[in-house]
Amino acid sequence: MAKIAAVKGTRDFYPEQMAVRNWIMEGWRQAGLRNGYVEYDGPIFEHLRLFTEKSGEEIADQLFFFTDRGGRALALRPEITPTLARMVNEQINSLARPIKWFSVPRLFRAEKPQRGRLREFFQWNVDVIGSEDILADAECIYTAIDYLRSVGLSSKDVVVKISSRKVLAALLKDLGFAEDGLEEVYVLLDKRPKLPREAFDEMAAEQIKDQALRNRLKEMLQRLQPEASEDSLSKLKVLAPEAVQADIVSFSDLFYYLELMGVADYCEFDINIVRGLAYYTGPVYEIYDRREPLRAVCGGGRYDDLLAGLGGQEVPATGFGMGDVVLELMLKERGLLGGAAQGLDFFVIDAGRELFSFSREDKDRCVLAVVSRLREKGFSAAFDYKRQPLGKQLKQAAAQKARWAVILGDETIKEGKVNVKNMAQGGQRTVGLEEFLSRPGETVK
Ligand code: HAM
Repeated sequence: MAKIAAVKGTRDFYPEQMAVRNWIMEGWRQAGLRNGYVEYDGPIFEHLRLFTEKSGEEIADQLFFFTDRGGRALALRPEITPTLARMVNEQINSLARPIKWFSVPRLFRAEKPQRGRLREFFQWNVDVIGSEDILADAECIYTAIDYLRSVGLSSKDVVVKISSRKVLAALLKDLGFAEDGLEEVYVLLDKRPKLPREAFDEMAAEQIKDQALRNRLKEMLQRLQPEASEDSLSKLKVLAPEAVQADIVSFSDLFYYLELMGVADYCEFDINIVRGLAYYTGPVYEIYDRREPLRAVCGGGRYDDLLAGLGGQEVPATGFGMGDVVLELMLKERGLLGGAAQGLDFFVIDAGRELFSFSREDKDRCVLAVVSRLREKGFSAAFDYKRQPLGKQLKQAAAQKARWAVILGDETIKEGKVNVKNMAQGGQRTVGLEEFLSRPGETVK
């Protein structure tokens, strides 16, 4: 039979890739805990309706769905936010607020696989439920930056582009758009930065039939385009009509809090951020690689109506999702994946014919005994299954990325000593076996 290939848009995690994935997730978890969130998870599949109800077309078009034997329409989760809303709705009266939860779900979207976009990926989700204070939005944004900063991405590498659907809604209504037509305009505007100008114009003409209204929209967007030399939030304040000022004041607090948290240099107002998901109601943001501005590593915002929309009480909520695929590309391009390096602490070698025997007389000074004692002390240690000459065992140690080789030689071990070799730098020390085993970490300092 011919070999069966992996499905397009999925990844195999061989040990090297698995180490990267674990390292990324460990960093996410630590940042979640450090910022006061606790971890949750839900099922990988849900009722299809949970995702088609409130997330909007973009997600609905990308679902992997199936029917179970009882005829129920189910879907693999494309995001975890509806699951989170469902779970919180379930226990809303017993959960202490604000609910600060994070999760690292495996997600599935039937996308056209491309650089930074796959059909199966992981996402770090950080959400605050039960607070309408814009401080909660600020803390979520801070948490995302806290992680990115911890892996070496500075404000020169990444930018958090922030806007507000509330401010945008006020601006659009002021231009003459009807409240019930806003959703359509959001979808259109979300596509704007990703489309060539002509294609956008064509789409806009199709959707907004009133030419004068269309022109007013274009003009407003043009005036509010961010420019490197200018503080675009101040520009918004100056250009926005009176009716919008109240919303801008509360939105400005977000930037003020981010400044107090010491991350203002990562953040800027950008009118182009609208978000593709339908449920957002307030501040919205996306985090981009400054070198590749079309690829978001993270997206989120406030979604105050989702819990009620899914049958629960009116409970405000805000949060984000950060994807592992774009993140890994960004870190790789900058040589920042070093923390994921795998390797052993010790590789223990028997370098003498006499020691190869595993005889009872040598039982405390053979590789098996030394390896076991190192492991007992919490160090990672390995050895070669074949009793081979020193050179071959050293090669094996290098192949397993051992930091130190512990060499037991016929002569030295008789005197109760071992040689400890630094595999990276090549230096070697002779130390007493017992002294080494009682404090392995000290010996190799
Ligand atoms: P989203 O913008 O759909 O938001 O996804 C967030 C991030 O997940 C994206 O910026 C991207 O890095 C990653 N991502 C999305 N789709 C793919 C894909 N096909 N392949 C690889 N990475 C992908 C949400 O999912 C919201 N539920 C986030 C949220 C949480 N909002 C509030 N709380």
